[in-house]
Amino acid sequence: MSKKQGKISNASDAAVAVDPQSLFQQFAPTLYFEKPKTSPKANWYIIAEQVVPATRDAFWETIRRWTLEPQFVIPPIEKAEIKSSSTESSDGHDHDGASDAPIDTMIRELIPKRKSKDANLAEKVEYFENDKEARVIYEPLESKLPFYYPKVKAYSFVYDSGSDDISEQSDDEEQGTLRLEIIPFDTLQPSVTDPKMQYALKTILHKLFKWCIQQRLGYKKKAHHDVLVPKDTYQSMYQYIKAKYGPHLVANWTEKTDPKKFVYEDLAIASYLLCIWKKEEEKTKRKQTFIDLGCGNGLLTFLLSSEGYEGHGIDIADRKIWPALSEINGQKKDILRVEALYPAKVTYPDTEWLIGNHADELVPWIPIIASKSGDNCKFMVIPCCFYGLDGTRSLSLPSSETVGKYRAYTDYIKDIAVKAGFQVEEDYLRIPSTKNIAIIGRARQQHQDADLTQSIDRASQAFVPRKTDREKEEERQESLKKPKLEK
Ligand SMILES: C[S@@+](CC[C@H](N)C(=O)[O-])C[C@H]1O[C@@H](n2cnc3c(N)ncnc32)[C@H](O)[C@@H]1O
Repeated sequence: MSKKQGKISNASDAAVAVDPQSLFQQFAPTLYFEKPKTSPKANWYIIAEQVVPATRDAFWETIRRWTLEPQFVIPPIEKAEIKSSSTESSDGHDHDGASDAPIDTMIRELIPKRKSKDANLAEKVEYFENDKEARVIYEPLESKLPFYYPKVKAYSFVYDSGSDDISEQSDDEEQGTLRLEIIPFDTLQPSVTDPKMQYALKTILHKLFKWCIQQRLGYKKKAHHDVLVPKDTYQSMYQYIKAKYGPHLVANWTEKTDPKKFVYEDLAIASYLLCIWKKEEEKTKRKQTFIDLGCGNGLLTFLLSSEGYEGHGIDIADRKIWPALSEINGQKKDILRVEALYPAKVTYPDTEWLIGNHADELVPWIPIIASKSGDNCKFMVIPCCFYGLDGTRSLSLPSSETVGKYRAYTDYIKDIAVKAGFQVEEDYLRIPSTKNIAIIGRARQQHQDADLTQSIDRASQAFVPRKTDREKEEERQESLKKPKLEK
């Protein structure tokens, strides 16, 4: 299929001038079911391809959602659970390098709707990216495949940018080729002959095509990558931070969690914040200060402190690694502190930045705490689990095929921040984690909304800090000691 097929005449004008229907109508895939073509990737066969008038970022947004919500792709599935996730290896390749290693690997369990009839299925999901293509591979980890799963060793969605030379592509390049690829069970017989399977695969390719275009159409209105920090600035900071801290931190990780996931994710978040702060410092002429609320293992606090920023992390429970991460450039510092936060009761008037990285129930409160802390206080949160102000997960969030739950939740947090008086900014961080939206409040717009004041009053009565694992264990031991009442 020629790359020119379906090309829109002026890509950068397209979002404004092109009728969306004309984009959707370009679907006319080339199918190789009977005679699959060999892929540039060894052992893989191309079974369908289609030019798509959408960017690589739109492809990734779609794939991220599909990995979390496969029910949109395979209807007999009720949901998926991500059992583990590890991000980018320490082999020196970055997300845009020509690495053969995956940038993200997950183990995902598919849970079918008909639980008594169909089995769950564990799969390995890997994301790859190089200058020419973005690729996600789904590989079943069990030999017996349930009826709802394609009968292949592995299948893959690919976005091919069409050029090996990254300098030829721009972030606004609106076109690539989507490919559906498989590794068949029998490489001598790679063809897909079952008509039902052919229909299902074509339907999936069509859906991928539509979602990429929907992402593109929404994309112009929504935030996207590199909104607040130019890509080059971020990438050189990331390379510097990664080389300075990465190998040592991975080698000396004492937590049970996977160092590759946690270390590289926090290196990326620290790099992003440092870029934002350096820009801020041009205005304020002083180093920024911070508090990391719900700091967990304390790694982000350690990195920011090691780079010379004054601040500390707070968490309801300490971690084994804290003593090691409290040593900053050879000196013990009181930077990681245990405290059960009642968010309606705290303010930090002497701090410039409140951070909430995947800080669970603290996230919705952080814009409010920042607002109450005075005009100099700013915030950045990266929302994760869908907690409301009352500290529970009982929010009812609007979600549809085009607006995912995570998007709906980040909109909920943004709404709180606007009502708390911030001009809200948003960026998609260059981390492979699917929860990668940073919401930032640097400037103020108005006074706090009366609606919000009422919600805060109600929620602050309901919010009770969670019990730590230690407290839960102590309670359990205590209950074992109590004599049982006879009936
Ligand atoms: C998902 S973890 C994230 C940790 C860390 N920010 C990271 O990204 O690795 C959320 C953290 O918030 C902490 N937390 C939740 N509620 C809290 C509260 N009321 N006071 C203090 N810490 C709290 C938890 O103990 C937990 O360590």
